[in-house]
Amino acid sequence: MASFNIRKATPKDCQDLMRMIKELAAYLNKADEVVITVNDVEKYLFGEKRLAEALVAELSAEEICQRIEGERTQKEECRFDKGDCGIEKSIETEPVSHFASGSGHAGRPLVGYALYFYNFHTWYGPYCFIMDFYVTEEWRRNGIGSVLWAKIIQEALSMRCSNVTWEVYDWNKRSMDYYKRKGACDLTEQDGKHVLLMDRKDMEKCVAETLASATGSDVSS
Ligand SMILES: CC(C)(COP(=O)(O)OP(=O)(O)OC[C@H]1O[C@@H](n2cnc3c(N)ncnc32)[C@H](O)[C@@H]1OP(=O)(O)O)[C@@H](O)C(=O)NCCC(=O)NCCS
Repeated sequence: MASFNIRKATPKDCQDLMRMIKELAAYLNKADEVVITVNDVEKYLFGEKRLAEALVAELSAEEICQRIEGERTQKEECRFDKGDCGIEKSIETEPVSHFASGSGHAGRPLVGYALYFYNFHTWYGPYCFIMDFYVTEEWRRNGIGSVLWAKIIQEALSMRCSNVTWEVYDWNKRSMDYYKRKGACDLTEQDGKHVLLMDRKDMEKCVAETLASATGSDVSS
C-alpha cells in the first residue's frame, strides 16, 4: 500500500489540479471539452467568490524516497524537503518520472483529487455535489481513492449535508461498481431520474427568444 496524505487543496496546487482535471477528462474521452484554465481554477477555488473546493492526495516523503531508490541504481537527489527521508544528496542524473517534478507542497507529487461543492435541496436541505474524483493511473488500487472518498463524506457530514451526489457515465462500469460497493444508489435506475443540461448557446437562445418576446411581465433584470 502507498503512503499518502489527503489534505485540502491550496492555491499552490492549481497547476496540479489543472493537470489532473485534464487527465480525468481524457480518461472520460472528453479531453476536448476542457475549456477552463489554471486561472479559472485559482479564481473559482481560491478567489473572492469561491464556487468549489478540492481535496488532494499527496504522496508521503517516505513513499517518494522509496520510489526514487527503487527507480535509480545510483545515489540521487531527493528534490523535496530535506530531512523528510534522509536520502543522501548527490545529483548525478536527470530526475526520473514525475517524482522530482516539484509539484505539490514541498515538491511532493499530487496523485489524486476530488472537487466538490455544496448546494441546497428543497426537501433535504444542504447536500454536496462531487464533480470530480480521480487518482492517477499509476497510483490506483492503493486505497487512495477510498480514503479520499471518505474524507469528502466526512467534510459533507460536518457541513450537515443530508447526502452526497455525483454523476457517472454508464460505460464506466468499474467506477459504477466501486460506488455501489460503497453503498451508493443509482437514481436513474431507482427513480428514472435523468441529468439535463442546457449549454451556453441554448441559454442565450432561450433568453433572446423568450424574454425578447415576453410582454406583460417584468423581465428587466
Ligand atoms: C475511481 C478511482 C478514483 C478509485 O481510486 P483508487 O485509488 O484506485 O481506489 P481504491 O484503491 O480505494 O480502490 C480500488 C478500486 O477502484 C475501482 N476502480 C474504478 N475504476 C478503476 C480504474 N480505472 N482502475 C482501477 N481501479 C478502478 C476498482 O474496483 C478497484 O478495486 P479492485 O482493486 O478490487 O479492482 C480511480 O480508479 C480513478 O481515478 N479511476 C478513473 C477515473 C474515474 O473513473 N473517476 C470516477 C469518475 S465518476
